[in-house]
Amino acid sequence: MAAVTAGQTAQAAAGSTDGADGALEAAFDAAVAADERIEPRDWMPDAYRASLVRQMAQHAHSEIIGMLPEANWITRAPSLRRKAILMAKVQDEAGHGLYLYSAAETLGTGREELLDKLHAGRQRYSSIFNYPTLTWADVGAIGWLVDGAAITNQVPLCRCSYGPYARAMVRICKEESFHQRQGYELLLALSHGTPAQHEMAQDAVNRWWWPSLMMFGPPDDASSHSAQSMTWKIKRHSNDELRQRFVDICVPQAEVLGLALPDPDLRWNEERGQHDFGAIDWTEFQEVLKGNGPCNEQRLTQRRRAHEEGAWVRDAAAAYAQKHTDSPNADAAKTDVPKTVVPNGEATA
Ligand SMILES: [Fe+2]
Ligand SMILES: [Fe+2]
Repeated sequence: MAAVTAGQTAQAAAGSTDGADGALEAAFDAAVAADERIEPRDWMPDAYRASLVRQMAQHAHSEIIGMLPEANWITRAPSLRRKAILMAKVQDEAGHGLYLYSAAETLGTGREELLDKLHAGRQRYSSIFNYPTLTWADVGAIGWLVDGAAITNQVPLCRCSYGPYARAMVRICKEESFHQRQGYELLLALSHGTPAQHEMAQDAVNRWWWPSLMMFGPPDDASSHSAQSMTWKIKRHSNDELRQRFVDICVPQAEVLGLALPDPDLRWNEERGQHDFGAIDWTEFQEVLKGNGPCNEQRLTQRRRAHEEGAWVRDAAAAYAQKHTDSPNADAAKTDVPKTVVPNGEATA
């Protein structure tokens, strides 16, 4: 809220003169430096807005594309309990997409526009979802490692300088933590099951470990957006810092699981107080990014088809909303809705 005040004060002081941008930018910089939140109606540099839209769109796309590899296993889950859990998890990911598209809308970029760019291959989603889910154990490995890496990346985003993004991340992180635990619990059951189940769990971890490390993005010295994002406090930690944190979290968890991490160079470094780990194959990362991963084509085709097949639902929802807006009783109907009080004390209809 204080950022609004800072922005408005600067705006008033600057009036409509040519010096306006300088004063507004100074107020913006001061708000970011003071760890205040930037809100949609505040002045912000165009590049800050563009950077946020790019990051939030990529994040939203990752949530909904991420539904695809796991949804493949809903019909093949080994028990009703596992099926119910997986359905809840996949549904959560759809919700995460919605929060993030809505947050991006506060910057003036509509959901339709972002989805069109995704479908045309002009905006990215996380490369991790271009790997296949070959066995049931992959559902566990995705929960433990992929959702685990997502949490490591996203918890600091709850303090991101842009208010709507930061607030969306609070709820997302709570749900991601449930996802991580369901994956861990699934792998724990498999790892302590029959030898064949243990082997299946190990095979899944072997295939998902390295792509999970790549989720943190290129090394710091090769990351084009990192430095500016950190100055703007969109990002709080560098890619390499977060990757190291993730490795250090996973090593003891793998021990409890009774599963090996597929890296012969992984060892505790007493001096650094962190684990050393082997070199990441950045050529593979670049290839998947370019569209040459095992499932790039399949994921986008599936997503485009889902969008086309869902057109009637969007049309019906829009027609229903329009009908209620046009109705002569619309305003009366609104006032008839009883007011309820939400926990933070605000009355809402
Ligand atoms: Fe998610
Ligand atoms: Fe998740």
